[in-house]
Amino acid sequence: MGTWPFVNRVNRFGSFKAPQLREVELTGPYFHNGGKLTLRQVVDFYVRGGDFPVTNSTHRDFNILNLNAELQSDLSEEEKVALVDYMLEFTDDRVALEAAPFDHPQLILPLDGTAPESDGTINRDAMLTGCVLAPALFGPGQQFCAGNAAAVAAAPTATGPLFLNVPATGAAGNPGGRIPNFLGIAGAAPDAANPGGRQRLVGAAAFCGTNVTSQYCH
Ligand code: HEM
Repeated sequence: MGTWPFVNRVNRFGSFKAPQLREVELTGPYFHNGGKLTLRQVVDFYVRGGDFPVTNSTHRDFNILNLNAELQSDLSEEEKVALVDYMLEFTDDRVALEAAPFDHPQLILPLDGTAPESDGTINRDAMLTGCVLAPALFGPGQQFCAGNAAAVAAAPTATGPLFLNVPATGAAGNPGGRIPNFLGIAGAAPDAANPGGRQRLVGAAAFCGTNVTSQYCH
């Protein structure tokens, strides 16, 4: 319907600016409300005509239909899985590995909003005290740092992490491998969490229950 009856309106009826799908594997969870964890869940959403097909029927885009019920199209299981395959192909390995031209220098990020003002004593060396390897859900080689040398020395286990130390990747990319997908689910290629690589699930195998491990899970 475009912006009918008003010409060239930039917005209408709570519409959302849709992100492009380049690197979509790496940008979960999906939609503006983060309501879908996997790309298969996105496909299911479209195939059933959205989450509120009845209550939203007057404002729903006419391109979004319940493909199971309406006869214009009837995607097979293989075709739905093929859509997930297709979207996983949008991942550029240079992005996943943070290799040139997508490499970055070392980043020291405040984590919890309690990082102190820089007063000359909280310098780079102080921020990088008391560092431990962050959980695998974080990027390869990333560290939690307590960031307070005196406090760490006094009570090494009592000081929570204030900073995330993200190492420089270098032009060749992260030596530790690809950046993990949201919640560490498996996607297009092998990574530290999923050395077996693509976990392509079709049919009954894609009903993963509470153990959603792959972009192919419902
Ligand atoms: C099978 C076909 C389609 C696929 C595989 C698909 C895939 C996707 C994916 C993966 C996202 C999430 C992007 C992100 O959050 O990073 C998305 C968002 C979106 N798509 Fe689609 N799409 C399809 C059809 C459509 C159609 C037919 C329309 C509109 C007529 C549409 C409109 C949108 C909009 C507005 C968003 C943003 C929604 C939000 O952020 O809440 N899509 N799409």
